Amino acid sequence: MEPFRLHLFVCTQQKPEGVSSCPASGSLLVLDALDREIQTRRLNLEVQLTTCGCMGLCDEGPVMVVYPAGVWYRHVQPADVSEIVDAHLAGGKPVPRLVWDDAPAMKAMSLDHGEKFRAAIAARDKAGILPDRLDQMIRGYMPSRCLLTALELDIFTAVADGANAEQIGTKIHANARALAMLLNALVALGLLSKAGEVYKNTPESARFFAQGSKDNHRNGLLHTANIWHRWSTLTDAVRAGTRIPIGRDDSPEWTSNFIAGMQRNAKDRAPLVVKALGTTGVHRILDLGGGSGAYSIAFAKASTDMRCEILDVPEVVPLTADYVGKAGVSPQVSLRAGDMLQDDFGSGYDIIMLNAICHMFSEEQNQYIFRRAYSALAPNGRLVVQDFILNPDKAKPLHAALFSLNMLVSTDAGASHSELEYTNWMKAAGFTEVCRINLPGPSSLIVGSAK
Ligand SMILES: C[S@@+](CC[C@H](N)C(=O)[O-])C[C@H]1O[C@@H](n2cnc3c(N)ncnc32)[C@H](O)[C@@H]1O
Ligand code: FES
Repeated sequence: MEPFRLHLFVCTQQKPEGVSSCPASGSLLVLDALDREIQTRRLNLEVQLTTCGCMGLCDEGPVMVVYPAGVWYRHVQPADVSEIVDAHLAGGKPVPRLVWDDAPAMKAMSLDHGEKFRAAIAARDKAGILPDRLDQMIRGYMPSRCLLTALELDIFTAVADGANAEQIGTKIHANARALAMLLNALVALGLLSKAGEVYKNTPESARFFAQGSKDNHRNGLLHTANIWHRWSTLTDAVRAGTRIPIGRDDSPEWTSNFIAGMQRNAKDRAPLVVKALGTTGVHRILDLGGGSGAYSIAFAKASTDMRCEILDVPEVVPLTADYVGKAGVSPQVSLRAGDMLQDDFGSGYDIIMLNAICHMFSEEQNQYIFRRAYSALAPNGRLVVQDFILNPDKAKPLHAALFSLNMLVSTDAGASHSELEYTNWMKAAGFTEVCRINLPGPSSLIVGSAK
């Protein structure tokens, strides 16, 4: 029994540049058009649309198949989609000019493709050629660096509604020849379009990277651009066992980008944390290293009785005040400039939060914070750690393992830590019950309850 009346498979198999493939002939645009058309006509309860890998008919792409009847389409373009949806998906009649029903030819082509593919893999293997996966990993920094430089130079804002390289260069004070090379690479990466000599933002770049757009993420992303300089010290940091100072981390601009980067991640996660912890019986919260204040703001908005206190370093507190003020919760959220490794925490808190904090510190520093947090909690209070949590072998998940290196190049003794480590440290501090709450996304909560 089929769960859906029809099931569409659209081939989206990526292949190296220059090799025939369905994505190279436009299958991702077809997929997008199909999805929109199916939703618009409310066919989504009857028609399931999924992607699939190579079917061996790459020269005839974009290829798609409609089951259960097994109707194969080839050379489908976005302009064909509304006809296919109307005639076939809604009306039950396939579109003859696009249907490919020469089964023997299709089978022969597919088998031939499979044979050639396996032979090519075997020949590459025999010749000792570096596998594509490794080659791509080695060069992975190139697209990233192009985009980070474009953000640093604020190119997407300078492109505005369309401009040539000279006009953009005048706005951002860049060399015309070098800038044209970067702009062309951004076109190749699908971040700009080009008609004649005029460059334009793609809808995505205009939305997420240009000033004036409400979804502009540039300030927060500039933190990643700053971090890139730290990552270039990784080799030396691994030799030295700690970060190598690069002398660019303490400017007001760096701090402001850092907190904007934190806010970018935290503002969508904060309501999830409030939901996971609940507000029943919670009146006072201490938010250690609160950054932009996103978590305190979310708790304050969830209950008018809530009082939150944010402790952060003196350079950050004025930025926190700005975010808290703009959120309209200043009467509920107080700010304290200080050092969580030195200063007294106070007492009587129902929750003490450590969101994205513990990875900055060593085992000893975290244990010291946990012990003092235990003493600062009210009866039945909770210590909440939110972080990228490693598996016991510390080799997974990937984002937590990579983030550990981010902390190696950024801090004196920070790292990603495992659930077992957090649990042991909390129990050693006096917490009797410790549990993990998984949130959507890469970070999880470890919650210790004080009796
Ligand atoms: C990675 S950010 C996390 C910010 C916030 N909790 C969030 O999740 O968005 C770390 C924060 O801890 C603050 N911080 C670092 N060392 C600190 C210390 N010794 N005492 C107080 N705050 C500190 C930083 O200024 C920054 O705001
Ligand atoms: S890439 Fe689509 S059939 Fe091969």
